[in-house]
Amino acid sequence: MWKTLRDGIDLRIGLKDLIETKLKGYRIPKDTNIFYTLGIVALFAYMIMAVTGYFLLIYYIPHTEQAFKSVQLIMTKVPYGWLVRMIHIVASSLMLIVVSLHMISIFIMGSYKRPREVTWFLGGLLMLITLTFCLSGYLLPWSQRSYWATTVTTSIPTAFPVIGDYITRLLRGGEHVTGVTLSRFFALHVAFLPPIFLGIVGLHIFFIWRIGLSTPGFSKSAQHEQPWTGYRRTTYPESYPFYPNFVLKEALMITIFFALTFFIISFMPNFFMPEAANTPANPFKTPVHVKPEWYFLAPYQLLRLIPNKLFGITIQILLIILFLLWPFIDRSEERNILKRPLLLVLFLVLLGLWVVLTIWGRYS
Ligand code: HEM
Repeated sequence: MWKTLRDGIDLRIGLKDLIETKLKGYRIPKDTNIFYTLGIVALFAYMIMAVTGYFLLIYYIPHTEQAFKSVQLIMTKVPYGWLVRMIHIVASSLMLIVVSLHMISIFIMGSYKRPREVTWFLGGLLMLITLTFCLSGYLLPWSQRSYWATTVTTSIPTAFPVIGDYITRLLRGGEHVTGVTLSRFFALHVAFLPPIFLGIVGLHIFFIWRIGLSTPGFSKSAQHEQPWTGYRRTTYPESYPFYPNFVLKEALMITIFFALTFFIISFMPNFFMPEAANTPANPFKTPVHVKPEWYFLAPYQLLRLIPNKLFGITIQILLIILFLLWPFIDRSEERNILKRPLLLVLFLVLLGLWVVLTIWGRYS
């Protein structure tokens, strides 16, 4: 049966030829390590988010009177609704961890350098979109936590003179966070962001496929790389086929991602769901502590520490621009970070600062 189906497909689209030339013929340099699978894990995480999100949409109602109740219904009455919602919540945080590790490993291995500057830039946009997904999804349950966290985050632009108030009103759809804000964030979360994300992922992967994977800057093969003067597909004398060898490594990492998601759901269900997430929103009762999710704690704490709000936000915007354009700014030919002590120290200081601010923001 399977053979008949395969032969039928092969007859029509040349399946065997596709596998031989595009999958087995696509060579992965021997020096690559397990961190090279993280991009695909991030892509799978996104697919999990999309599939669970579609199921949640069947019962979720984007209305201030109904949103919280519909989420409670999903959690208590809809068969396996709790599981679908928990996967959506846990996988979103794990996806951010995977994307961050993907980005950090690419930075350490110097894989953002010429000719991969645009690949990095597109990846940076994907990171920002992933964060916007999280920010917009956060308001949807219309809980006390989501209402007040959104009130705080949407008030940030007001620090800017002239256009600040306008941006805040645009985000909220009025003076305060109301049902209009909920509708806007809902539309952003389920209709605007997915196609933008998929379009940029498509471009990101197209660039990787055309250029070919890099090897780590500190590996042997990287030392023999020729300078990039005109377009050529990167090839390495020692390589192995993408399929099945590399695909199996990716499958292993995806399985670990799934296992970790289910481990957290089974043994630490409240890890990403604090108490305030189970209280309906009350616009008249400000909670004592309004804290964003863990991935926004560092910028939030930095804003609290810098008394001048405009200065605090300007610094963060400049850091984001620096991050997106970094490969165009760092023109050094040296890809091995171990031979660039200044860059290594700067990177470690920034990473350390991010960790300290996150912990500080969480416990202060
Ligand atoms: C949801 C977000 C993302 C997805 C789905 C994704 C997907 C991928 C995939 C499938 C690969 C090829 C295999 C690999 O090296 O892992 C890759 C490589 C790459 N990614 Fe991403 N990526 C994402 C975010 C990012 C971010 C945030 C950055 C950096 C700012 C980035 C920069 C790069 C670069 C420079 C490469 C080329 C690596 C090389 O040639 O060795 N990506 N990405």
